[in-house]
Amino acid sequence: MSMKKRVLTGIQPSGKLHIGNYFGAIKRMVEYQASSDLFLFVANLHSLTTLQDGERLKKMTLDAAIDILALGIDPEQCHFWIQSDVPEVAELTWILSCLTPMGMMERATTYKDKIAKGISPNLGLFSYPSLMNADILINQADRVPVGKDQKQHLEMARDIATKFNHQYGKVFVIPEPDIMEEIAIVPGTDGQKMSKSYGNTIPIFGTEKEIKKAVMGIVTDSKGVEEPKDPKTCNVFALYKLFASQSDVKVMSERYQKGGMGYGDAKKALLEVIQNHFEPFQAKRVELEANPKKVEEILQMGAEKVRKVSLETLEKVREATGLHY
Ligand code: ADP
Ligand code: TRP
Repeated sequence: MSMKKRVLTGIQPSGKLHIGNYFGAIKRMVEYQASSDLFLFVANLHSLTTLQDGERLKKMTLDAAIDILALGIDPEQCHFWIQSDVPEVAELTWILSCLTPMGMMERATTYKDKIAKGISPNLGLFSYPSLMNADILINQADRVPVGKDQKQHLEMARDIATKFNHQYGKVFVIPEPDIMEEIAIVPGTDGQKMSKSYGNTIPIFGTEKEIKKAVMGIVTDSKGVEEPKDPKTCNVFALYKLFASQSDVKVMSERYQKGGMGYGDAKKALLEVIQNHFEPFQAKRVELEANPKKVEEILQMGAEKVRKVSLETLEKVREATGLHY
């Protein structure tokens, strides 16, 4: 038995991944894959709460899986699967929902936020955290890395696991939240947080032209070429720092402060480090896309591996709750 902590998280398929997603989420998962017993899945059942277009969901799910694999998630080193390929989780969702007080779900701020945004609520959207509880508990996760907005869901998972163990005897590990503070919020091309909802992203798997257009469009002040510039307040520099080596960052910082370098040149340098960084991932993505059979095999293998873990827990749950007769 591995003594490594089991770290589990779900990623909703959400369209084109950007540099913010990479540094804020995917890169950390690649690190967890080396240091922990990583369970990572594409949360397509969760997407169904707001996306009811079959062709689109299918494409987005596969695209997300290919993106994640291309960025370095290795199915041999972790458990990687598509949520709906392990339907046992839906059974546990039901069972847990029968232990979940209405009031707990009603207090979910994610639900209130979504309604406030004008999404017309369905029952799935309302019980979204219950499915998330099942994702976590069925695989006996020790730690769950999530963004701040998901913190309350983690508290629910802990509450429900505790309640179940108390009611029926110990079946579940109580998961620890691992709130991924966005210590380094990646700025977008307009200086706000990079986010697809602001239209200020630099796509990782965009065409060369798209990436270039985004980088050249980064907002700067209007200082002329000869003027000294402040790297600390510059969006181009903030992004450059994420990619370049310490010594290159130092050199760039000096060039800013000395004057004589225009923002156009800084952007060119940024474009180059971005391209160098993502080139191998882009090549891997092209390779995977050209080989759908291989992707399918990877996903099937992932689902089979995780299914063993999920079923083992579910059997205990069926036994404890009286569903085995
Ligand atoms: P978006 O804001 O583009 O809709 P999501 O909310 O889908 O992005 O984010 C998915 C993951 O990527 C989350 O874990 C989030 O913390 C991370 N992330 C997104 N944007 C950034 C950013 N600008 N800086 C750091 N992390 C980010
Ligand atoms: N709700 C999470 C999000 O939107 C995704 C998710 C689904 C998840 N199931 C999970 C995260 C289980 C952690 C654990 O980001």
